[in-house]
Amino acid sequence: MTRKIWIDTDTASDDVLALIMGLRDPRVHVEGISVVAGNLPIDTAVKNALISVERAGTYAPPVYRGAAKPLLRPLYTSEFVHGSDGMGEMNLPPPTLTEAPGHAIDALIACVAQNPGQIEVLTLGPLTNLALACAKAPDVMRQVKRVVMMGSAGVGPGNITPVAEFNIYVDAEAAQIVLDSGMPLCFVGWDVSTDETFINQQDIDSLLATGSERAAFCVRCNATLQQYNLDSWGKVGFDMPDPTAMAVLLEPDIATRQIHAYCAVEYRSEATYGQVMIDPHGLLKREPNADVCLAIDPARFKALMFRLIQ
Ligand code: RIB
Ligand code: CA
Repeated sequence: MTRKIWIDTDTASDDVLALIMGLRDPRVHVEGISVVAGNLPIDTAVKNALISVERAGTYAPPVYRGAAKPLLRPLYTSEFVHGSDGMGEMNLPPPTLTEAPGHAIDALIACVAQNPGQIEVLTLGPLTNLALACAKAPDVMRQVKRVVMMGSAGVGPGNITPVAEFNIYVDAEAAQIVLDSGMPLCFVGWDVSTDETFINQQDIDSLLATGSERAAFCVRCNATLQQYNLDSWGKVGFDMPDPTAMAVLLEPDIATRQIHAYCAVEYRSEATYGQVMIDPHGLLKREPNADVCLAIDPARFKALMFRLIQ
């Protein structure tokens, strides 16, 4: 039976590849896409989500507009990482597809209510939409089959502060609400995408050598991210955090190291705001509340992503 998934995204350039992967994998059906402000303001994120659906070239699930800002804090965006358009300054024309009517939160709640125990949710941005859905319909949201979140620094350094990863840093309060929700959760941290799963020049060259227009688009829209990696970390290529999370959702056994631990989000301290504290050894004697994927099979990940984006 085809698995039913829901994707929540802030549609920057790596989100685009994750969306295309999900829409082109026949093992899953994307029931809906909810958009959240994060990497980009909501209007740009919605436009990029619609473009991603078109570029996937398969079917068009409804794309819903969600939260335009975090629960409490001002929106912190990252055009400096992905480009002012979130797509490597391609400044693409408006998509033909249009967004679905209604708010993303209500659409997500309705989808879960109509498919109790079946919906696997993948989050690729700040957790504002998911937190709002949990606040509005906690009993319904506990009927989610699983939530895989691109979020946290895992057991590595942060990418926005020394301890915080972007998606959690944008809305740490929302992340704590999700942690308290009772939904089955899995963090895929930024650390999973920065070593052997990093898309290097050889990977880029082999993608372009396929002659696939879709693969070429997926490389091109990450041009700003590629430059950011060179300028910031001295690395040639780009990290693909959102596609790694999509890979964990599509093939859970791609994870080579994973723990089940008590996690908590810092949302009161200015110095460590957005840090996800993970307690792998149970030192705090608190009930574990999330899986944390610490590593995935890099060759299998690249083969999966490369196959699905061509
Ligand atoms: O920290 C990584 C997250 O922010 C990913 O969702 C990616 O889109 C980046 O911008
Ligand atoms: Ca994202």
